[in-house]
Amino acid sequence: MKFLALLALVSAAIATPATKQRRQGCDSDVTLSGNPFEGLTLHANSHYAELVTAAAANLTDSSLEAAALAVADVGTFLWLDTISTIDTFESYLQETTCDEIFGVVIYDLPGRDCAAKASNGELAVGEIDRYKSEYIDPIVAIIKNNPNIAIAAIIEPDSLPNLVTNIDQTACANSKSGYEDGVAYALEQLNLPNVMMYVDAGHGGWLGWNDNLAPGAQELAKVYKAAGSPAQVRGISTNVAGWNAWSLSPGEFENAPDGQYNKAQDEKRYVTLFGDALATAGFPNHAIVDTGRNAVQGLRLEWGDWCNVNGAGFGVRPTTDTGLELADAFVWVKPGGESDGTSDSSATRYDSFCGKEDAYKPAPEAGAWNQAYFEMLLENANPALA
Ligand code: GLC
Repeated sequence: MKFLALLALVSAAIATPATKQRRQGCDSDVTLSGNPFEGLTLHANSHYAELVTAAAANLTDSSLEAAALAVADVGTFLWLDTISTIDTFESYLQETTCDEIFGVVIYDLPGRDCAAKASNGELAVGEIDRYKSEYIDPIVAIIKNNPNIAIAAIIEPDSLPNLVTNIDQTACANSKSGYEDGVAYALEQLNLPNVMMYVDAGHGGWLGWNDNLAPGAQELAKVYKAAGSPAQVRGISTNVAGWNAWSLSPGEFENAPDGQYNKAQDEKRYVTLFGDALATAGFPNHAIVDTGRNAVQGLRLEWGDWCNVNGAGFGVRPTTDTGLELADAFVWVKPGGESDGTSDSSATRYDSFCGKEDAYKPAPEAGAWNQAYFEMLLENANPALA
């Protein structure tokens, strides 16, 4: 008897090798339509959760530590910012349960971050074939291998907005064809039933200027149509890694001398106004808005200041309760605690915005962990975290 039972165990073990991880996700394939966040919670990936948990362990103040641990449970997007990060993408993706949606940022265009220096990428202008075959294609293969997992994808932060307003800069002019071709390819290839896509549209202080609304919408629509108007493009992402309030009257810069030239003085007004322009241009106009670090207003010297703004706090946690039909959800996109750029003026990727008076210093390279900045975000969180 004993021997037989053991034999049964052994053969069961052979039938299901221990190495094969049980996949999460749903029993059947996922098809997203409408607002993909409705009824699904943004997944808190273990990549960010581990950074946050390690940061919490360094805290001696117990209430701050509790707040830090609460952040580990908040859904936050995973940034695929280099080809090498694709190696771990599938394991994070497979943590996602059937009542969750996984958030991913597609961010590796050739000549990335053409109007600034801090986030310049690994691919040079012209390396569009590598972008397609070594970056987008492997990501698509992983997603196709996991059709039972819901995914929200933000496509290439800042890229098309830069083509609208910074095309007079040589690096952006040189990047134009690669950005347009690359984004169109991403939209075409990621057009899968379990994926919903949001193309990045900067923020109200960028394409929200009266004169930028129509050209901005036309640029997005042009690339979308070049991709064949993919069904799984839902609209735009705004305020990614940004600081703007969702709703604030008067807006932070509304009474500035040039305030009259921009009616999108908060993200709610931006989503509405740019949404109108998108509809006219023939681009789907729902939006998700990054509220990860926008708790505190009145910190920036100028609206365009983007680097490690000093005094910032974690903002509203991911929710579909936005109060605006066009806004699908508030989400956390920029992982709070990861730097926007180095303050070391001798570094290759030093951008002068990271040395401005309103930028937190010292700060490490973009994407690297800044413990002190993370603690500041905790202290200034609104709503409070724990
Ligand atoms: C910045 C960095 C990038 C990082 C992202 C999220 O854009 O350039 O490397 O992944 O922020 O922190």
